[in-house]
Amino acid sequence: MTGPDPLRLVVLVSGSGTNLQAVLDAADAPVRVVAVGADRDGTGGLERAAARGLPTFVCRVPDFAVRAAWDEALARLVLDHAPDLVVSAGFMRILGPAVLDAVRVVNTHPALLPSFPGAHAVRDALAHGVRVTGCTCHWVDAGVDTGPIIDQRAVRVEPGDTEDTLHERIKVAEREMLVDVLTALAEDRSWR
Ligand code: GRF
Repeated sequence: MTGPDPLRLVVLVSGSGTNLQAVLDAADAPVRVVAVGADRDGTGGLERAAARGLPTFVCRVPDFAVRAAWDEALARLVLDHAPDLVVSAGFMRILGPAVLDAVRVVNTHPALLPSFPGAHAVRDALAHGVRVTGCTCHWVDAGVDTGPIIDQRAVRVEPGDTEDTLHERIKVAEREMLVDVLTALAEDRSWR
């Protein structure tokens, strides 16, 4: 018996790309990364993509006079690869309407939304003194980490945790969650 065609993914990254790597390594997941994009040069995520021989692209905000032009350029670069879905995996930019009106986007975030949205979620959770935090996978809308939640995983804060130690444990849960979510979205495409 053959399964459905793999879900075509464009993955957007800004950092080390370990979430991207988890998706690339998920051999049993019915997904295929068709391109990787970044908002800056020289990221680990781009190197991981290149090591797999995947097409990559960079679309830098400072290269455009206005934000809307960046959004439109990014949309063109993404849509060139005809994705079924875009994955924002540590992509540290707010996506605009040119992308969001053209394709569905999921984001992974290192906190239990709606708590601690934004770029410093792990630091903010630690500063607040929560004993449990975690990660969230959600649909991207026009807000900052506000879209409908797809899945979450809880992670305990341990005594002595720093932002780095806590973030590393969250990322272990986050990578597993992301692969599980993408597998589920590939198996049930009623969201399309
Ligand atoms: C992840 O925790 C993501 O949620 C956050 O930045 C981290 C990216 O990690 N926004 P990586 O680049 O996938 O290793």
